[in-house]
Amino acid sequence: MFAMIIEETGGPEVLKMAEVATPEPGPGQVRVRIACAGVNPADWKNRQGMLAMYRPYVFPYVIGFDAAGLVDKLGPGVTGLAVGDRVFTPTNHGQGGWGSYAECAIADADRVAKMPATLRYEQAAALPVATLTAWQALFDRGGLDVSNASGKRVMIHGGAGGLGGFAVQFARWAGARVAATCSTANVEYLQSLGVERVIDYRSEDITAAVTAWAPGGLDYLMDAVGVSTLPNGLDLVRTGGTFVSIPTLVDDGDIPAAAAAGAARGVNRVFSTMTDAGCAPTLAQIAQLVVDGHVRLPPLRVLPLAEAAEAHRLSQTGHVRGKMVLRVADL
Ligand SMILES: NC(=O)c1ccc[n+]([C@@H]2O[C@H](COP(=O)([O-])OP(=O)(O)OC[C@H]3O[C@@H](n4cnc5c(N)ncnc54)[C@H](OP(=O)(O)O)[C@@H]3O)[C@@H](O)[C@H]2O)c1
Repeated sequence: MFAMIIEETGGPEVLKMAEVATPEPGPGQVRVRIACAGVNPADWKNRQGMLAMYRPYVFPYVIGFDAAGLVDKLGPGVTGLAVGDRVFTPTNHGQGGWGSYAECAIADADRVAKMPATLRYEQAAALPVATLTAWQALFDRGGLDVSNASGKRVMIHGGAGGLGGFAVQFARWAGARVAATCSTANVEYLQSLGVERVIDYRSEDITAAVTAWAPGGLDYLMDAVGVSTLPNGLDLVRTGGTFVSIPTLVDDGDIPAAAAAGAARGVNRVFSTMTDAGCAPTLAQIAQLVVDGHVRLPPLRVLPLAEAAEAHRLSQTGHVRGKMVLRVADL
């Protein structure tokens, strides 16, 4: 198959198209023929070698978590999916498998969700990592009640990114009142997503803005940007509230010290990294929210797979609005 591979870690220039062996699905796995691959900041961090703490790199190596495409081959024992199904998945990249910047990728069947008929591949490919991370950080680990967060004061630091654009909408859909930070250029965008208090971090004092909006303190705060960009979050959250950081690998500070400080202040201090085992039902639920109009897809920028290096350069600026997607094949 063709793939965008790396043979060493480094800058965007290490990405190159090549022919590699087509992977075979093992028991319980499916092979997906990929139409579109979603781009996440984890991709450029991975390309630079930052995921070496999780496993050693073996080259050639294919980057990319998110994929949407067609089921191409079933491994032994797979039920509920059939060759030709339109699906989307975070693939088995997080488990060390080759990723989605390729003609095909392997995924455990319980990580593969069927696409609603009205969703396009570039839309579905934008969903897995960003939506699962936001969902788990809000509901599964963040303690917000998915069916009744009514009246809760929720703030998302980094509302204009891929993760943030979904997080603000999930919180709104659950009934919360939502504030979010962004730069001046994204204020109207976040207002259009229903954010009640958009805080322009370039012109406003975040602490003053939050204190005025939520005088008793936030019920929930998510930091999806990095510790150096936020005033002490513990000062913004009420006693008994929750402060979730999404680990970034580049700006996380001292996590054990932060957890201890949270405990000392009576704040539920959480560090929430995405898990994708068995994620197919959650992905299906999220796709249905999109189809039903409860959640809007963020702006999508679609580039050909051959321009993966350019997508990485853009992602590395840290200021992409919404999501980028690579078109791998016309299926
Ligand atoms: N650990 C995990 O499981 C996991 C999973 C997913 C993502 N992540 C990490 O979470 C972070 C966010 O991911 P993402 O996909 O949303 O990234 P992204 O799409 O690249 O989002 C970047 C966004 O951050 C905003 N931003 C930059 N500086 C800011 C600041 N000082 N204050 C407020 N907003 C700021 C930008 O908005 P403006 O242009 O308006 O500044 C931009 O829209 C990344 O570091 C990613 O690696 C971790």
